[in-house]
Amino acid sequence: MKIQGHPWRTVWLNADAQVEVIDQRFLPHELITAVLPDVASFERAIREMWIRGAPLIGVVAAYGLAVAMRHDSSDTSLLAAQRTLLATRPTAVNLQWGLARMVADLLPRPPQDRVQAAFALAAHMADEDVSMNHQLGLHGLALIREVARRKPGQRIHILTHCNAGWLATVDWGTATSAIYQAYNEGIGVHVWVDETRPRNQGASLTAWELGQHGVPHTLIVDNAGGHLMQHGQVDMCIVGTDRVTARGDVCNKIGTYLKALAAHDNNVPFYVAMPSPTLDLSVHDGVREIPIEDRAGEEISHMTGLDAHGYLSTVQISPTGTPTNTNPGFDVTPARLVTALITDRGLCAATPAAIAALFGPQPQPH
Ligand code: MRU
Repeated sequence: MKIQGHPWRTVWLNADAQVEVIDQRFLPHELITAVLPDVASFERAIREMWIRGAPLIGVVAAYGLAVAMRHDSSDTSLLAAQRTLLATRPTAVNLQWGLARMVADLLPRPPQDRVQAAFALAAHMADEDVSMNHQLGLHGLALIREVARRKPGQRIHILTHCNAGWLATVDWGTATSAIYQAYNEGIGVHVWVDETRPRNQGASLTAWELGQHGVPHTLIVDNAGGHLMQHGQVDMCIVGTDRVTARGDVCNKIGTYLKALAAHDNNVPFYVAMPSPTLDLSVHDGVREIPIEDRAGEEISHMTGLDAHGYLSTVQISPTGTPTNTNPGFDVTPARLVTALITDRGLCAATPAAIAALFGPQPQPH
């Protein structure tokens, strides 16, 4: 997508053949990039959320293994880097998928061939992410067109949660791909952007990227969605996902489940944009089987933003000593609350049969 008219991706090889990423900690206030020269820097970038979003985590981790090979292309180095990166964030299945795919390709090769092969495969995975997101966006676009057909001349209001935009992927985004494509063809879309406490990915990232592209949007507090749905102001919800199970349960940013409940209660369609690598056919019951990231309490007790002088600063918002030791980063929306999965292979009901029919009964290589 474009920033101030110039095309960008979230990760790329720079002129010195170093891996460079947009450091998302500083958005929307500053556009800063970071070079990741070694495995330790990839570990920090993923763990500390310089980059985040399930698809992007998978691709950046793949580049992390390529960089590891550049330093030492032995089996020991490859497997150690895989272990290190795998331990950074537990919930998004794309991390283990990206690492496993790289290791399966590299391990059988002689060490002297691994650097070139690793960078080639990581670049391929980045391009594949872009084309899958574009493709799933076309399927989502068909849904938006259908609403537009039923509401001629009126705005289409779409609610989204967290950031499943291009910043969460290599490009296009998942939930936003259909929205960008609808906007590009002149459909009057308007996006309700959940702020997405505690890290405010909606406020800082989704609002920023929609604004850069010119897509009309309104930032709302996380608890406003139910009210807006009751008053007929939401035509559909589209969210991203960190892992979808074989029976269609959807894990995504904390708060997604509450939006799905409100959508169900108000007959608002609730769509989940899922690129193929985010499907984990090895798990069924999402609530019981998906590991949920347990994050630091400071994310609840403190907030970061620009102060009156334009400096990034962090302020405390709860009394000193208030317990904040329960901060799950994700939740699971049961399949029964999901209207459909929007995938790169087409629309798919969130049922075991429909998922098996579209993605095959065999588990994906994870
Ligand atoms: O903690 P984050 O910012 O990595 O969480 C991101 C999300 O929950 C996204 O909705 C999800 O990864 C899908 S991104 C296309």
